[in-house]
Amino acid sequence: MAQVNSLRGVTLATTSRDIQMRFYSELWGLTPVVYSSANSTRWLRARGSEPWVLGFTDAARNGLERLRLGAASNAAVIALHARALAAGCPVLTEPAPLEGPGAYFGFLLHDPDGRIVEISATEQHAARTDLDTPLPLRMSHVVLNSPDTRRTLAFYLDILGFQISDWYENDAIVFLRCNEDHHCLGIGQGSNTAINHMAFLVDDEAAVLAASERAKAAGVPQIWGAGRHGPGGNVFSYFRDPANFVCEYTAELIQIEPDQVWNAKEWKRTPQNANVWGTGGPTPEAIRLMSGEF
Ligand SMILES: [Fe+2]
Repeated sequence: MAQVNSLRGVTLATTSRDIQMRFYSELWGLTPVVYSSANSTRWLRARGSEPWVLGFTDAARNGLERLRLGAASNAAVIALHARALAAGCPVLTEPAPLEGPGAYFGFLLHDPDGRIVEISATEQHAARTDLDTPLPLRMSHVVLNSPDTRRTLAFYLDILGFQISDWYENDAIVFLRCNEDHHCLGIGQGSNTAINHMAFLVDDEAAVLAASERAKAAGVPQIWGAGRHGPGGNVFSYFRDPANFVCEYTAELIQIEPDQVWNAKEWKRTPQNANVWGTGGPTPEAIRLMSGEF
């Protein structure tokens, strides 16, 4: 069965595209992609092979413009498109070459919360830069707020092929995987459909700490961490960008092999489970920003 097999990244709508591009290139550690386009979108890549991982497009307000998911091949994209149509999902475009760098072939649809999801394949791979640096390799995970987590989950599980890895009680966050990563997507109960936060993978725990120190020295406000989460086991360090999106450096996420028996379980929503080291936070600001209500 065709299924989504990666998180490619996100495009964010923003009132301050050039400020955001400067923040993520000069302070966060991504690299602008040179590409000539008539539209307002601009792109950033990480050190890994994904042609780009973060986009910004001009808008009247800040928010998630689209969630970008990968499939293995054009045939998988076409099969996912057919499945979405057959299930009555609001499909927005036919499978076709997508605007922007990376030579992606894909289509757009709405998820049950009305956010745009792009599903694409590409044979283009950026040259990986294996520098000795704590800078991001790729996007690791995105957490989305949802007023109806069960309805939203059904879409990501049944139509796109995700599996549940673990969850916090009361659907506070349900962690979903589509490859070996314990999660690349989280759906969390909320009053809105905002992006809760996005996380960028760095090499290891030391790189999370080094990247965090680098960001803090540049004046970027750290709002939670560094610490280690219970579900997923990953090291985290959360920051706030100039447009109030929450961005995270992360590493050492639990890997689940395809044939591995994995018993998904419920985690109590305790400070100790959210932060097994007990190292500070989240700050009230982090909670406010991640709630999407501001
Ligand atoms: Fe996270």
